[in-house]
Amino acid sequence: MSTWLQGRVVENRHWTENLFSLRVEAPRLSFEAGQFVRIAVEEKVARAFSFVNPPQDPVLEFYGVVVPQGPLSPRLAQLEPGDRLQVASNPAGFLVLSELPDAETLWLLSTGTGIAPFISMLRTEAPWKRFRNVVLVHAVRHANELVYQELIASTKVKYVTLVSRQMHQTSLSGRIPAALADGRLESAAGLALKAENSQVMLCGNPDMLKDTQAALAARGLRKHRRRTPGQVTVESFW
Ligand SMILES: Cc1cc2nc3c(=O)[nH]c(=O)nc-3n(C[C@H](O)[C@H](O)[C@H](O)COP(=O)(O)OP(=O)(O)OC[C@H]3O[C@@H](n4cnc5c(N)ncnc54)[C@H](O)[C@@H]3O)c2cc1C
Ligand SMILES: NC(=O)c1ccc[n+]([C@@H]2O[C@H](COP(=O)([O-])OP(=O)(O)OC[C@H]3O[C@@H](n4cnc5c(N)ncnc54)[C@H](OP(=O)(O)O)[C@@H]3O)[C@@H](O)[C@H]2O)c1
Repeated sequence: MSTWLQGRVVENRHWTENLFSLRVEAPRLSFEAGQFVRIAVEEKVARAFSFVNPPQDPVLEFYGVVVPQGPLSPRLAQLEPGDRLQVASNPAGFLVLSELPDAETLWLLSTGTGIAPFISMLRTEAPWKRFRNVVLVHAVRHANELVYQELIASTKVKYVTLVSRQMHQTSLSGRIPAALADGRLESAAGLALKAENSQVMLCGNPDMLKDTQAALAARGLRKHRRRTPGQVTVESFW
């Protein structure tokens, strides 16, 4: 049973007109990096948001995009310091490193706001202790949506970006499944993605999850389940 906790916005950073990061003071919550929690301005319109902050950080952080006509996200984007935000008391989710078998390389593949849970993970010790290589892939429409770059640069992660709707010098073009299928993703990371050496986490757009899983299946990687261990763990944002 979940209850609602009272949070208070301390910062609402706007990266672009449509992308924002909310920092929220709220009673302490217990969760693992990669999990999400429901948040609301009014309880009847609650939505799941992944934690961007690591569990040890007392201030909660959420990264969002304004979905035009969406019931909640436009309201979240307009919150200001001092405004109230309700946070459910029961974080949840299986996109967590404790569910993953060991491997040499951890691949974190995201589109849009799907980068949020991976930022939280990178800010914990677990990925660096458990995997020799950690690759973060972020695919966005436009280069100004490549958020959290400073934070990413402060970690040891191999960072590969894709920009689909404009040319961008330091990013691959197009989408993740194509870049995976033709080898550009591995070249950019300088690592091979194989069933024998990799665990892959996917987060974001459901069509990306579907198409990427097909590209991974063609290489012999299959969904990871507790009963039937595999290499691919997914979380769909809608
Ligand atoms: C487990 C989980 C974790 C999530 N974590 C995040 C997060 O960290 N950040 C975040 O912004 N959203 C996240 N979402 C999506 C979030 O719950 C809302 O759906 C989103 O904020 C839009 O809310 P809304 O009420 O405005 O529109 P909704 O009625 O919820 O959605 C309307 C439509 O908008 C599109 N949409 C929804 N979410 C997104 C998105 N993130 N990016 C692009 N298009 C989208 C879909 O087409 C959807 O059908 C998560 C969802 C799930 C299930
Ligand atoms: N991002 C913005 O600046 C912006 C602005 C206004 C409104 N919005 C709203 O926000 C929502 C979407 O935002 P978003 O840009 O964060 O998410 P998105 O639509 O999921 O796009 C993010 C990335 O995922 C890629 N993608 C889409 N389908 C894919 C597939 N099947 N396989 C692999 N990759 C795939 C996109 O490539 P493609 O470009 O090739 O589709 C893009 O590079 C929409 O409701 C939109 O109206 C966004």
